[in-house]
Amino acid sequence: MAEVVLNNVWKTYGKVEAIRGLSLSCKDKEFLSFLGPSGCGKTSTLRMIAGLEEISSGDIYIEGIRVNDVDPSKRNIAMVFETYALYPHKTVFENIAYPLRIRREPTSKVKEKVMHAAQLLQIEELLDRRPGELSGGQRQRVGIGRALVREPKVFLMDEPISHLDAKLREYMRAEIKHLQKDLQETFIYVTHDQLEAITMADRVAVLNLGVLQQLDTPAKLFNQPANEFVAGFIGSPPINFLQCELIPEGEKWKLKHPAFELLLTDKIKATLKEKLPAFTGSYPVKLGFRPQFSTVGHQKQGPADIKCKVFILEPLGTEMIVHLLIGKDRVKVLASMDFEASIGDNVFNNLDMDRIHIFDGETGKTLF
Ligand SMILES: Nc1ncnc2c1ncn2[C@@H]1O[C@H](COP(=O)(O)OP(=O)(O)O)[C@@H](O)[C@H]1O
Ligand SMILES: [Mg+2]
Repeated sequence: MAEVVLNNVWKTYGKVEAIRGLSLSCKDKEFLSFLGPSGCGKTSTLRMIAGLEEISSGDIYIEGIRVNDVDPSKRNIAMVFETYALYPHKTVFENIAYPLRIRREPTSKVKEKVMHAAQLLQIEELLDRRPGELSGGQRQRVGIGRALVREPKVFLMDEPISHLDAKLREYMRAEIKHLQKDLQETFIYVTHDQLEAITMADRVAVLNLGVLQQLDTPAKLFNQPANEFVAGFIGSPPINFLQCELIPEGEKWKLKHPAFELLLTDKIKATLKEKLPAFTGSYPVKLGFRPQFSTVGHQKQGPADIKCKVFILEPLGTEMIVHLLIGKDRVKVLASMDFEASIGDNVFNNLDMDRIHIFDGETGKTLF
């Protein structure tokens, strides 16, 4: 069972705390992604799992065995980096075969394994070429091929396609995901690109400043974010945030923004009451709503309407991003291509109250 478990793992470089108390497990045959902004500790974590970086404190287990002091070569893992680190003078065949040559495997076995990897990656016709004669995507496949022939139980990938152009990235996303399903092995995949993480991974671990924010399926991260950071990092166009005050007026609870007041539903009120038991006066919160879950129209549509002005329209072909001004705040909502409006028009943004989010203004934690 190629399970990877991290138990209260810390990584410090001098005074820098790159990873702070990270505990998580990646299941056997799972495609797990580490997602977070640059500098949040993704590479450090992957390198500790690989054994290329010392663990400052805590424990890492691979296949049930504590590997803190196990040599990288004995961990049954293979790592694919963003830079391919291919040998320029060796052929593609020899680049892929390299780990097997080091192990002194018999020539017939080497040939068999390289051919099998090349077949899986569809690079059989490139085996005689040298890295200089390959495109970026092809080179990255050679890098993956070199990982494949080692027949590891766990594949570790650090931003393997980040530097490719957008079109090739989209193509390679599907290729790598397909490969993982084909191989039925455990993949841990690091990226700063939320789209890559949510389209490829079974589950995503969102990191910020060395701290795990949430580990969940892409759908859960999108619909039930644990906090403001996760909500803001997942989704495109990104979620809208509006600074508000939560105000109880007898039985009616409201969100007050400089430009509007929003009456909360009984369901939201009940949840907030549970989360904020000591709350009496007003309380700072952030209202979050996704561009996908509100509608814009020229007429009032219901109690959850917010008055706004059109800032600009961005037609995408299949749908339109409508930028709106709510007081001094800018938000984006999605509309159909037949929505017509001019800059400065007064319109209404109708929120889907079941799908709004309310975050604690101080801690960023999800209240609703
Ligand atoms: N060898 C190192 N020496 C000192 N600081 C480092 C070293 N490697 C990484 N760091 C720091 O640790 C933090 C996490 O880095 P890293 O794991 O590379 O993040 P990510 O891969 O998410 O961009 C950053 O603040 C980075 O500057
Ligand atoms: Mg990195």
